[in-house]
Amino acid sequence: MRIKYWAIAMLAFFMTCGTVWAAETKPVSVKKGILLVAFGSSVPEGEAAIEAVKQDVIRAYPGVDVRVAYTSRIIMRKLAREQKRIVDEPAVALAKMAYEGFTDVAVLSTHIIPGEEYQDLEAVVDGFRLMSERGTKAGFRKISLSQPLLAGEEDYATFAGILSEIYPASDKRAVVLMGHGSPHFANAAYSGLQLMLWRNSPHYYMGTVEGMPTMDDIMTRLASTSIRTVVLAPAMLVAGDHARNDMAGGEDDSWKSLLASAGYSVEPVLKGLGEYPAVRRMLLGKFAAACD
Ligand code: CO
Repeated sequence: MRIKYWAIAMLAFFMTCGTVWAAETKPVSVKKGILLVAFGSSVPEGEAAIEAVKQDVIRAYPGVDVRVAYTSRIIMRKLAREQKRIVDEPAVALAKMAYEGFTDVAVLSTHIIPGEEYQDLEAVVDGFRLMSERGTKAGFRKISLSQPLLAGEEDYATFAGILSEIYPASDKRAVVLMGHGSPHFANAAYSGLQLMLWRNSPHYYMGTVEGMPTMDDIMTRLASTSIRTVVLAPAMLVAGDHARNDMAGGEDDSWKSLLASAGYSVEPVLKGLGEYPAVRRMLLGKFAAACD
């Protein structure tokens, strides 16, 4: 009889405390993941810059699963069509990670300015954060997002320092940088960067393809100097379509052609920012700060 009571007492103990323990010990099976997000590129040289960032992340966080998502649907569709390669967009990549049981996900943004593309990514991460807070299956225990490269004043100065070391400007050689540009108000970050570059040399010319400052602004300012040689480089993560066509392409209206027909000797650089270790260090620094 006594043994039977003991057995019932033990059973009751395990049924109550056992479930409490199980609930409390559940998050012990932590599965960390990193999602690297880029606009994307459909040219192999462009993808090399993204891959370089990925390799640095893998080295910095050994043992952590690192995935890549693109935000440009045009590029993703092109890759699927022409190369039969599927790259996920952030919402899909995160949904898959939640499904696969990841508990802690850190999203690394490789965006240059906090513009439309970055805001979209922020909204997706916020959505997953809400699902996480509500404890849904689609959420995580933890989710973070790193800031874009030019998120504020301090960044303009740091980034201007990095660019000045990569592309030194002098009275003989001007440096013209092509940023992407955007109608978004965050486009002003390029002007902030320009001001910081001027602290290093007056011969930095920051321009954008789709915003201001424009190439006209640059040509006007260049014309008032005695500069004859211009280094032309992209201020974008990858040297993709814009760098190859709008910047250094053979068409009459490419920046290279415009400068050449105005009499400058042009030295185009087809290297994306992601190909420079110093830029990658800055990106990873921002990522580490967001993970804490
Ligand atoms: Co574009």
